[in-house]
Amino acid sequence: MTPSRRAVIASSLALAACRGQAQTPPAPLTLPPLKRVAPFPVGAAISVGALEDPAYRALLLANFSQVTADWEMKMEQILQSDGTFSFAKADLIAEFARENGLRLHGHNLIWYIYSPEPFQRVAGDRSAFERAYANYILAVAGRYRGQAVGWDVVNEPVAEDGEGYRDCLWRQALGMNYVATALKYARQADPEAVLFLNDYNLESNPKKRATFLRLVEDLMKQGAPLGGLGTQTHLEADLAPGAIKAAIRDLAATGLKIHVSEFDVTLQGHPLTSRAAKLNGQARLAGEAAEALAALPSAQRYAFTTWGVRDKDSWLRHAPNAGDGDDSPLFFDDDGRPKAAAAAFERALGRS
Ligand code: G3I
Repeated sequence: MTPSRRAVIASSLALAACRGQAQTPPAPLTLPPLKRVAPFPVGAAISVGALEDPAYRALLLANFSQVTADWEMKMEQILQSDGTFSFAKADLIAEFARENGLRLHGHNLIWYIYSPEPFQRVAGDRSAFERAYANYILAVAGRYRGQAVGWDVVNEPVAEDGEGYRDCLWRQALGMNYVATALKYARQADPEAVLFLNDYNLESNPKKRATFLRLVEDLMKQGAPLGGLGTQTHLEADLAPGAIKAAIRDLAATGLKIHVSEFDVTLQGHPLTSRAAKLNGQARLAGEAAEALAALPSAQRYAFTTWGVRDKDSWLRHAPNAGDGDDSPLFFDDDGRPKAAAAAFERALGRS
């Protein structure tokens, strides 16, 4: 046997031994259900496909009291190219929520990423465009009137870098008034639902948060029916301590309801940081977010929603965001076992 072959075998045996030690599974966590510990509704983004898995449904119903449709209630699914609406998948989500006594959060009515054909066809005629805009919002928000407890009426209005607001079909056709107009028709469709603006990186980008809050202030001055603010909270594990608390403090200063609306902490990126260190960071951030929301007056605690149930259900495990395919961004691992982040979430609430 050549020396190099011996060396290869020796190193692979050493590696296997090392992995063998690393593979000694930690004692499984046993935690009370998330929704039992939290002084606010605990939500999850769900999808029709995932609901076909009985283990997923059991884990969801045991831990969560609110659901958001990952994509089935969005324009990309509802608005057909001929201008008609298809609610088949959205209704399945709503029906599941109703049958299981879960609060339903509507997501979302207007999003900058969409510029569908039916709207492009009337983009040159402002009154026709606004009629189509009103018709869509009235139809969708009106359909779930009395069931949806809230709606993300406009999703991600602020520019990526926080310098001003996104350019999009809605703004080109209606000006920045597209936001207040969407809120107006959503209120007309549903007199009770809490109407939200929802955006991301409000923790990591203070400039984006300031621009978001300027829009909020303008809307409140106009008397727009804005009832809540969603901070998506898609985080990286090395986010500085206190950033979440500062963001929630600033958003809550408006007096509006606050929704941690899409919580997850990716382990992707930062190759020099170990997976264990990122999972510790994830737990730290879960605890900080829980504590910050719980510290608000009860009237302002709308919900804490994780963007998925198990790691393998996450958008961060599916194309085009899957990275190296083994991200672990949520509270439950691929097999539905609670992770350190879930324990930190509950520990923080036990302290609150
Ligand atoms: O499952 C269908 C498949 O049956 C169909 O053939 C195919 C045709 O395109 O679409 C598939 O649905 C995809 C769906 O994810 C489920 O995988 C949609 O194309 C795809 O657009 C959708 O992506 C979603 C994305 O928003 C766009 O709607 C992600 O799942 C969802 O997690 C993501 O969520 C967003 C929030 O709404 C806003 N904040 C950021 C967050 C992450 O990007």
